Amino acid sequence: MDIPPTVIAVRRLTKEFRHWGRRLLALDRVDLEVHRGEVFGLLGANGAGKTTLVKILLGLARPTAGDVLVRGSSPRRPGTRRRIGYLPEGHRFPGYLTGDASLRLFGRLAGVPEKALDARIPELLELVGLGERRRDRVGRYSKGMTQRLGLACALLDEPDLLFLDEPTDGVDPVGRRHIRDILLQTREHGTTIFINSHLLSEVERTCDRVAILHEGRLVRQGTVQDLTAPSRRFRLRLADGQSMLPERLAEDGWRVVTNNGHLEIEVADLEALNRLVDRLRADRRLIAEISPVRTALEDVFIEVVEGEEHSPGSLENGSRTGVHGPGGDR
Ligand SMILES: Nc1ncnc2c1ncn2[C@@H]1O[C@H](COP(=O)(O)OP(=O)(O)OP(=O)(O)O)[C@@H](O)[C@H]1O
Ligand SMILES: [Mg+2]
Repeated sequence: MDIPPTVIAVRRLTKEFRHWGRRLLALDRVDLEVHRGEVFGLLGANGAGKTTLVKILLGLARPTAGDVLVRGSSPRRPGTRRRIGYLPEGHRFPGYLTGDASLRLFGRLAGVPEKALDARIPELLELVGLGERRRDRVGRYSKGMTQRLGLACALLDEPDLLFLDEPTDGVDPVGRRHIRDILLQTREHGTTIFINSHLLSEVERTCDRVAILHEGRLVRQGTVQDLTAPSRRFRLRLADGQSMLPERLAEDGWRVVTNNGHLEIEVADLEALNRLVDRLRADRRLIAEISPVRTALEDVFIEVVEGEEHSPGSLENGSRTGVHGPGGDR
């Protein structure tokens, strides 16, 4: 099938829920694009609207306003959902089924031919590390195993678009790395992957591009590199046993930011950094490491969330993406 380069296009998507006459704006004029073959991460705190957005992209919920195109057509058309894999948040399989039988049941429901299932099920169980436990009842699986079975289930129909809602929820670090490897392998086959998560370090390692959703509004969008752009700060470490007096560097006009076992120095540009190296070498210091200090995605996230809470009037901030104006109609 010929997939357009823009796999998901969302324009001014708004979703409003009503509770006992009260309005709740779960999504507020969200603009978003996901390109073919990328791993896209949607970040947001609990209740930010991530699951609501995925449900709309899958045609499981209706938008209140705005346009949504998945592979160029409406997600509510049954044909659009073909070859889309979905790992729902907090999914459960019937506890009395074995891992094997669960996949067969879901494979049949998805219309995958029996013969294809015969080959695909053992292959997938092997891939997610459940080969040995395939005949065990799912009720006896641990949380991480259930999650990996869910991933196998989402991959059953060889999807070219995969939605994962909190895929590493309840999974230990080894299991998380395993899932990450499977996702990168899946992407190698050309599958576009959309991940909802609040596990920032996971997203940082796995996703090509990310968007941060805060109380229904998309407040940042870009590559992980863009969002965590290196500062002009460099961490400097000298070989063991050598010291560098921050006071002396400060006297010479260097901006020493911290001295916490190592030095962090802020420089105007690379020229200045190299002058610093010359200065240290002239003093016969042996440099063990110089590395740029990056802002972790977590810091960006906290900054966005706290910034929003503390300064609701700053909505016109130019760094925001999308069309959001001041205030919202919540
Ligand atoms: N079916 C529904 N009816 C009414 N309100 C809903 C419904 N689904 C979601 N909401 C509300 O919409 C908001 C966004 O919820 P959503 O589940 O999309 O958040 P989330 O970002 O996925 O959060 P989490 O990280 O906790 O999974 C919440 O305030 C939630 O209570
Ligand atoms: Mg959710």
